[in-house]
Amino acid sequence: MKTIDELLTEGVGGKRVFVRADLNVPLDGTTITDDGRIRAVQPTIARLADAGARVIVASHLGRPKGAPDPAFSLAPAAARLGELLGTDVAFATDTVGDSARAVVAGLADGQVAVIENLRFNPGETSKDDAERGAFADQLAGLADLYVGDGFGAVHRKHASVVDLPARLPHAAGGLIATEVGVLKKLTEDVARPYAVVLGGAKVSDKLGVIDHLLEKADRILIGGGMAFTFLKAQGHEVGSSLLQEDQIPAVQGYLKRAEERGVEFVLPVDFLVAEQFPDLKTKAPAHPETVAADAMPAGKMGLDNGPETCALYAAKLADAATVFWNGPMGVFEHPDYAEGTRAVAQALLDSSAFTVVGGGDSAAAVRILGFDENAFGHISTGGGASLEYLEGKTLPGLAALED
Ligand code: 3PG
Repeated sequence: MKTIDELLTEGVGGKRVFVRADLNVPLDGTTITDDGRIRAVQPTIARLADAGARVIVASHLGRPKGAPDPAFSLAPAAARLGELLGTDVAFATDTVGDSARAVVAGLADGQVAVIENLRFNPGETSKDDAERGAFADQLAGLADLYVGDGFGAVHRKHASVVDLPARLPHAAGGLIATEVGVLKKLTEDVARPYAVVLGGAKVSDKLGVIDHLLEKADRILIGGGMAFTFLKAQGHEVGSSLLQEDQIPAVQGYLKRAEERGVEFVLPVDFLVAEQFPDLKTKAPAHPETVAADAMPAGKMGLDNGPETCALYAAKLADAATVFWNGPMGVFEHPDYAEGTRAVAQALLDSSAFTVVGGGDSAAAVRILGFDENAFGHISTGGGASLEYLEGKTLPGLAALED
């Protein structure tokens, strides 16, 4: 895989460089609530601009339906990128239309532009190779070189991720190089004990990674909504908590395999429960009650780990040499249900292990809860991408940068 260093050595002055970034940041209206992904790719963009390239930054944001939708505009991300770079960043209001062509044509050496959300064009995500290819041809017309640095999207077989690098000389950006380097450490020669914390709502999203980690990890701690499918699989009632009944056989299989292989599976021993999901807009007090995991009351849902689980998980992480964490332990966006997630983050900080926080919600949680992100070994910008890497899958966006 060619690196951006090699590209810079060859010289990019005056060249139009297309940077496929992942600027898919959480928004509250037009306000960015966590700019971690923009900050993560900013050094790549700055290095190219400083070397005299005309930088065209492109990304998806959210999941619009292949047509322009103002709710998913990249304009706020472009503005934030400009603030971080300390320079004006031009913004094209389309992807490959008149605006994009004019904005790119107007770039001087060292200037940066962002084009509008790639998913406003149906060709970006199309399953049809020809449709994706046609969009990639149009994108290729904007640029001379391609730098892939949208780590969060490398698991997607999308036009700008896979088809465009096949059409332009390409290299991997600094963010992708860092992310891959860290994930390699978790798959080759991992320092033990290796503990993995998996949370989030759905167990079905994590089946592949659990399956793979049963061969790699020493200890797997489960939290978040998916914990209830595990508890049910062990024969406990879960009240009105999130449950994926159809996944129970798979989960039972994992519990059995873990026992056979000597992998320690740790499940919550208590929960904070309430009758209703909390109001995340008003953040009105939710008045949860604490109950034991084997005594979940009917009609109540578990919304966060209870205090005994927080202490148990901290103890289970204390002696680890490597920790990978993906997925929050509860509804951390509400102050009454943030403690389970906060306790895991704190346990990672307190341990001397090499700690990796796998993207998406857990990365946002760490920042939103006010932790110093530099205190963690690595905070990945890719949720799905890092999980698929750990599953041992070939990621199309990385493969596209190889040849
Ligand atoms: C993410 O948020 O994980 C990435 O930006 C990919 O987004 P997607 O799941 O909508 O493809």
